[in-house]
Amino acid sequence: MKIITFSAIKGGVGKTTLTFNYGEWLSSKGYNVLGSVKNLV
Ligand SMILES: Nc1ncnc2c1ncn2[C@@H]1O[C@H](COP(=O)(O)OP(=O)(O)OP(=O)(O)O)[C@@H](O)[C@H]1O
Ligand SMILES: [Mg+2]
Repeated sequence: MKIITFSAIKGGVGKTTLTFNYGEWLSSKGYNVLGSVKNLV
């Protein structure tokens, strides 16, 4: 299992959008994808 993280201190820069679309792209390539989005602050 591989864990890929997209993070940035600044808000609203596309973390959630990138996470979703990258996950969809990996899924389209045949990978099984488990996604999670967390805002820590
Ligand atoms: N590559 C992009 N080009 C243009 N707009 C984008 C792009 N990525 C994201 N956006 C837009 O920017 C806005 C913020 O995106 P998103 O919610 O993914 O950011 P975020 O980093 O997850 O924000 P938050 O810190 O609030 O969770 C949304 O309106 C989204 O549609
Ligand atoms: Mg977000």
